[in-house]
Amino acid sequence: MDSLLIKGGVPLNGDVTISGAKNAVLPILAATLLTSEPCVVHRVPDLSDVRFMSQILTWLGAEVKSEGGTIRVRAKKIKGAGDYDLVRKMRGSICIMGPLLGRLREARVSLPGGCVIGARPINLHLKGLASLGAKVTIESGYVQAKAKRLVGASMFLGGRAGSTVLGTANVMMAAVLAEGVTVIESAACEPEVTDLANFLNAMGAKIAGIGSPTLTITGVKQLHGAEHEVIPDRIEAATYAIAAATTNGEVTLRGARADHLGAVLDKLHDSGVATHCDASGITVKRNGKLKPIDITTLPYSGFPTDAQAQMMALMAVTPGISIITERIFESRFMHVSELSRLGADIEIEGPSAIVKGGKPLSGAPVMASDLRASAALVIAGLAAKGNTQVNRVYHLDRGYEKIDVKLRQLGARVERIEES
Ligand code: EPU
Repeated sequence: MDSLLIKGGVPLNGDVTISGAKNAVLPILAATLLTSEPCVVHRVPDLSDVRFMSQILTWLGAEVKSEGGTIRVRAKKIKGAGDYDLVRKMRGSICIMGPLLGRLREARVSLPGGCVIGARPINLHLKGLASLGAKVTIESGYVQAKAKRLVGASMFLGGRAGSTVLGTANVMMAAVLAEGVTVIESAACEPEVTDLANFLNAMGAKIAGIGSPTLTITGVKQLHGAEHEVIPDRIEAATYAIAAATTNGEVTLRGARADHLGAVLDKLHDSGVATHCDASGITVKRNGKLKPIDITTLPYSGFPTDAQAQMMALMAVTPGISIITERIFESRFMHVSELSRLGADIEIEGPSAIVKGGKPLSGAPVMASDLRASAALVIAGLAAKGNTQVNRVYHLDRGYEKIDVKLRQLGARVERIEES
């Protein structure tokens, strides 16, 4: 398993180009299953999760060609069952369910199971698909949805923690080919869901209310091929912004969209970081002393849970007491014990982490537990004195395109150690 060796204490400086959004491209690739015509997707990041999704599409019978950030898919003839091993490897692949049901009226997908950030149920996905008339059963670790007819319906898709991103994506992708009108209340408003809806409309779907909590979908008989450019990854942008602030550098995030990063930029301002936005991107630089802050993660447009761990690294170098309250996932503090190994002083109290910041960080070997936890360890390692070895880099490779190369371009002393 590869690891990253970071020689810390060097401020990040320069420009970094933000890649296409992982969480937008995965459902968009799944949506190409909805038509037999060719689809072309641009600004696709080179990530292991994207390669998994391409493998799943291929396994289902689609032709998939990937070249230089563009993926071409032609799903002329497909089957309705997802391979266990492929789906199990990546939770995000549950979003093939909606398109398979929409196009074939039948889908059989391995249940994804939990992961280190929490239980991750799919009850809301299934509730939505059942509302459209699908008979949903769970048997031998597989979820099966079948429908003679899919008929538009009104439904409320909110759950314990609010809306569901992939649940909204799944139901939307089935509803575009249902008969009549579907209304989804408490739909997720994340930019990735909006990007998917825009792609579906480019394919001939009729979705109104895009970006709002109420989506109205008028079913059509069939969709056609389309070409689409994926939005820039707001979480990758947030990660480099926070890394710049934590290391006391100055970084320009080329292509980042400030309109997708409102809550993150607001919290950076509160913590004493200046941001300058123009058409080409966002420049981030500390503005005097760092100040402690409070953050609560919420569905969009609230502070994203996917940037919480990274923010904790910034809090660790900020003198005073900062607090993070995690409201989306129940156990997303796996990074706390590893950050403590670098010298951070953090206590967990229920859904909150209390960070007593400002103590010097010093490098140590650490173990990544999930994608964003790994990003937090990298940021802390960049700010720490001495060497930090972040093990299990495959977590980072799931969601950060060429992270070691991009960090080196910003002046970081980072090396990938490949294990033979
Ligand atoms: N939930 C339910 N029932 C459901 C679905 C979700 O109770 O049927 C709950 C979850 O347990 C959680 C909350 O609703 O408490 C939100 O979960 P959501 O369904 O929105 O998460 P997701 O769609 O499975 C996507 C991203 C995650 C990101 C979350 C929240 C993808 C591939 N994944 O997951 O990204 O954290 O939305 O924004 O889009 C990451 O990129 O590191 C990552 C984990």
